[in-house]
Amino acid sequence: MTDRNKPTGSRPRKQSSEPAVDLTSVLSSKVVGQPNVIDAIVPYIEMFQAGLSPENRPVGVFLLLGPTGTGKTRTVEALAEAIHGSAKNLLKIDCGEFQMEHEVAKLIGAPPGYLGHRETQPMLSQQKLTAVTSERSPLSLVLFDEIEKAAPSLTRLLLGMLDRGVLRLGDNSVVNFERSVVFLTSNLGAREMLREISPDFGFQPAGKPIPKEELTGKLQNIAMVAVRKKFSPEFVNRIDHVITYQPLDAGSFDAILNHEIAALQDHVNTRLGPRCFNIEVLFETRQWIIAKGTSPEYGARELKRVIHKHLTQPLATLVAKNLVEPGSKVIVDLAKDGESLELRIAGDSEAAVNTHPTVLLVDDNHDLLKFLERLMAESGWRLLAAETAAAAKKLAAKHKPNAALIDYMLPDQNGVELAQFLRRSQPKLPVIVMTGSMLAPEEEALCEEYDFPVIRKPFLAVDVMNQIRTRLAASRAAAGR
Ligand SMILES: Nc1ncnc2c1ncn2[C@@H]1O[C@H](COP(=O)(O)OP(=O)(O)OP(=O)(O)O)[C@@H](O)[C@H]1O
Ligand SMILES: [Mg+2]
Repeated sequence: MTDRNKPTGSRPRKQSSEPAVDLTSVLSSKVVGQPNVIDAIVPYIEMFQAGLSPENRPVGVFLLLGPTGTGKTRTVEALAEAIHGSAKNLLKIDCGEFQMEHEVAKLIGAPPGYLGHRETQPMLSQQKLTAVTSERSPLSLVLFDEIEKAAPSLTRLLLGMLDRGVLRLGDNSVVNFERSVVFLTSNLGAREMLREISPDFGFQPAGKPIPKEELTGKLQNIAMVAVRKKFSPEFVNRIDHVITYQPLDAGSFDAILNHEIAALQDHVNTRLGPRCFNIEVLFETRQWIIAKGTSPEYGARELKRVIHKHLTQPLATLVAKNLVEPGSKVIVDLAKDGESLELRIAGDSEAAVNTHPTVLLVDDNHDLLKFLERLMAESGWRLLAAETAAAAKKLAAKHKPNAALIDYMLPDQNGVELAQFLRRSQPKLPVIVMTGSMLAPEEEALCEEYDFPVIRKPFLAVDVMNQIRTRLAASRAAAGR
């Protein structure tokens, strides 16, 4: 079913007005942690841009499923931004408004002869489709949100529209969807998915996440079972891709927060112009915001609200009171009680602040050290590199890192002993042990006892970074903030 209409079509109709943007990379920067979503959608858009979409049907039809707050609606908005330059270039139909059969007339207009049919402007019309196109592209993006809430007659209408690419309105006129991409979103199966992701509705016990591939497969199954239960086979067959969104991991939350902070900074720069200032959100503060604004239950849904309440609003008050000098730096720190944020204006002496984690990396493999250092620096992380246990101890005492990544085989001590030493001097320090071989059973037991995850070499650097992020988020959550 999923690939029924891979765009192989026949209609050379080049849309030359569209700029050549790399959709995949633009979308990946806006929709975090859902690469399969982007891989599914982009080919259809590119087919349209090349003038090769098939006739008599929409350019693409996608059913987006998955847990709340994982980016379903955001995907369609991001596509509108990428294609038209604004998230507003999107026709969004909230299916919750069409739960009763008689309400469907609002969508397509009442038939002639019905009282007031002239006054009912259909929500779906050719004009409305054209209104969401732009000079940059003639493609309309149409989003039917929460499709499972719609009355059955709406699903029947959609069936015709998906099948022939046209919709007949109450006044008998016809709307053509051949230049539209249709997105349907639904929470079908979301409850069952949540049970899979987080059986106790809490954080996963640290260090024992369900393997990603296994979880992906399970969620996809749940989604398909729920879809087949709710919709007829004809309806399901007309969908090009059923896409299941994955729960977001610590790295994704981190990236989303970075976007939000960057957007806030942009907003300050645009609004205040020459009176603008810099916002520095400390690393500890970021962890606090993530712990408060994200959860397996609601994904990143609360993140914006937390930022608004704890950061944007207090910032606005500072500005309104004229307390921020143009060009100065506002540091966002955790208040003493750990329950709120504190904004202060940096003095001259506070030039270098810690906005990202500092990670102690101990390994005598020089190449690996250099590689990780560069990668972590790209994410704004600071790396303290040591090739021996002795050097590591000195660095740790001086800089108090936020996490440590230690190779087992060090020239002057074994990594597990060093890990224990560091944990004793910094009791909450997340420590990860790397090894190229098996550990002795008693060392495995020690790692278990101290909760040091063991990563086997070779590994992907991004996986290690995600481990560190997860550990940092877990230690923050454990601290109850
Ligand atoms: N993958 C993601 N990439 C970037 N931002 C995201 C992502 N997921 C969630 N967000 C953030 O969380 C907010 C809520 O996400 P979104 O509205 O896309 O959730 P949803 O999956 O549509 O949830 P629901 O099922 O409740 O409608 C977005 O506005 C965005 O700020
Ligand atoms: Mg949504």
